Amino acid sequence: MADYTLIDGKAISEQVKQEIAAEVTEMVANGGKRPHLAAILVGHDGGSETYVAAKVKACEACGFKSSLIRYESDVTEEELLEKVRELNADNDVDGFIVQLPLPDHISEQKVIETIDYRKDVDGFHPINVGRMSIGLPCYVSATPNGIIELLKRYQIETSGKKCVVLGRSNIVGKPMAALMMQKGYPGDATVTVCHSRSRDLVKECQEADIIIAALGQPNFVTADMVKEGAVIIDVGTTRVPSDKTKSGFKLTGDVRFDEVAPKCAFITPVPGGVGPMTIVSLMKNTLLAGKKAIY
Ligand code: GUN
Repeated sequence: MADYTLIDGKAISEQVKQEIAAEVTEMVANGGKRPHLAAILVGHDGGSETYVAAKVKACEACGFKSSLIRYESDVTEEELLEKVRELNADNDVDGFIVQLPLPDHISEQKVIETIDYRKDVDGFHPINVGRMSIGLPCYVSATPNGIIELLKRYQIETSGKKCVVLGRSNIVGKPMAALMMQKGYPGDATVTVCHSRSRDLVKECQEADIIIAALGQPNFVTADMVKEGAVIIDVGTTRVPSDKTKSGFKLTGDVRFDEVAPKCAFITPVPGGVGPMTIVSLMKNTLLAGKKAIY
């Protein structure tokens, strides 16, 4: 039974926010302007409301200006695209996001591709995704970037390690795999991506030095799937109904933490692991946008 290190995403995220706030204070003292993040929220989905509120709050903590633009879920695609074009042209806005998911009658891809890639602080535009995959400066999407930051801050060795990414989503699995195989630290890993059609997923996990679980299936990773001394990053945040919490649900990861943790060298909890880092990554991208550091 190994003595594991709990990767404290909450504490690291607070630290990064303070670092950003200090930089913003200096920028303003030198006559610069505060970075400005705008967010578009369509409808009243509970998860999206929570995430956007957390993003606005993080902007305040970092000393950023933020704007929240709301639409009812019957907004037309063209209305939304017109707002995106307006934000593209607004010189006061450094970066902006359109919170996903969008209602079915609106093409998320069309919206993402209408965002000027130079203001795409979510890193979802194909230009940013493409540049990321070939190691060029770009906005990297928030969750993978947050995980990279955690690996760095805990100085977790990745070179030559066997890394299994569970899940192939455009937002997490695919970019995560690309970053882990990139030249240099924290990359240089041998990466396998497993998904719902994978054969031998359990065997792949059993051989992994690092598992990044991003399937969105609560408690999927069990102790028998994990080798002694592995590093476990849990990206899952499924809201499982619960009568034990005030909100009526419990945020549940993809990893069965209680049984897996004793076998690990490092593990992230849910909540308090990857989640807080995701928002901080968006703040880092917004700071870069404010400084025009990439484009
Ligand atoms: N929905 C879930 N995660 C995200 C995110 O990182 N950005 C946006 N815009 N929407 C999301």
